[in-house]
Amino acid sequence: MHATPAEAGSANPLLDELARRLDELDHAGLRRTRRTVEAAEGVRLRIDGRWLLSFCSNDYLGLSGDPRLLQAASRSAQTAGAGASALISGHWSAHERLETELARFVGAQRALLFSTGYMANLGIVPALAGRGDAVFSDALNHASIVDAARLSRADVHVYPHRDVRALARMLEQSTARVKLVASDAVFSMDGTIAPLRELIALCEAQRAWLVLDDAHGLGVLGPQGRGTPAHFGVHSRNLVHMGTLGKAAGVAGAFAAGDACTIEWLLQRARTYVFTTASPPMLSDALHESLRIIAAEDWRRARLRELARQLQAGLAGSRYRLLASDTAIQPIVVGTNEAAVTLAAALIARGIWVPAIRPPTVPAGTARLRVSLSAAHDAGDVQCLVDALRTLEREIDSAQSNTRPE
Ligand SMILES: Cc1ncc(COP(=O)(O)O)c(C=O)c1O
Repeated sequence: MHATPAEAGSANPLLDELARRLDELDHAGLRRTRRTVEAAEGVRLRIDGRWLLSFCSNDYLGLSGDPRLLQAASRSAQTAGAGASALISGHWSAHERLETELARFVGAQRALLFSTGYMANLGIVPALAGRGDAVFSDALNHASIVDAARLSRADVHVYPHRDVRALARMLEQSTARVKLVASDAVFSMDGTIAPLRELIALCEAQRAWLVLDDAHGLGVLGPQGRGTPAHFGVHSRNLVHMGTLGKAAGVAGAFAAGDACTIEWLLQRARTYVFTTASPPMLSDALHESLRIIAAEDWRRARLRELARQLQAGLAGSRYRLLASDTAIQPIVVGTNEAAVTLAAALIARGIWVPAIRPPTVPAGTARLRVSLSAAHDAGDVQCLVDALRTLEREIDSAQSNTRPE
């Protein structure tokens, strides 16, 4: 535990102000804490010596602990770090091979590797749009797109979630020289899928860029997990397809894929690519193996679909409102922060770990449990979750009827 300024006996106004604001987070039920993972066995994580069944991870295909990825990384490892940024001397043959494979995997001319998805968005959007330009962003986009749009210094227009008509009106009214639409492909806290066919048609008609963040679609959607554009069977030269490699791909990193000219521009101008140390080459070797497995092992996606159906059927008719989602993300909207935190704590007491997601990650009043499924779960795991939620439902109902006035 770190000492608070008061405990440390300091009278530092900067620290006092932070301590006051931390207290405010506590009072609003918004203070977040970490749990330290001591060990993992598939979807079971050991926390404080106790094994919990986890529905927290974005490791949708269950690849992060796959020994084949670890072997691929260690077989080739000549160095722990890349040693420099890519444009100096940090671009290794492992990176080059992975970029070639990523482009092939998603059906693009070329791809460029970033160290994280957050950095990819922060690099891509400001490289394509700047002061005087216009960025159009879905209301439920991930924080990294929100930040990227702000960083670009373009005028930012937020359109209602998945509302292509509203977006079309905004694009038509805009006189900006460069227009850029940015959207999550699969929305991270809802599991909804962007109307990609319509977005592409609109962006082509309006000569706008479309930056598609496929963090939660890559590996999960499309034939052989090739991502959301493959799921819809669409291509466009206006499209910059961003995918992350720390979720279904099980490792870390991200990429932008698209037309060769677009990617060359990003290589020149995306500041989060240019001004940072390239990722460790052995991660690229692990990812190369991961892409092979993603394409080869369709059973992982089939299992995800089966588990989602099982969860939906198991909670049908209960008090729990599962958002309609065909993806691995199956959120249960609870409402208040307190209710979400209480439910998550009750599940933890039963050995099940599901994260409570609160504002600012989701809109106020829509705090939720974000259940994420993985191909590493089996039907028994999902049944455990359903049984625990059903038991809690009965307990809450009987507590409420006991406290009701006669
Ligand atoms: C939609 C979306 N984009 C980008 C990111 C950031 O990716 P990374 O974790 O690789 O930084 C996330 C991660 O949570 C995400 O959900």
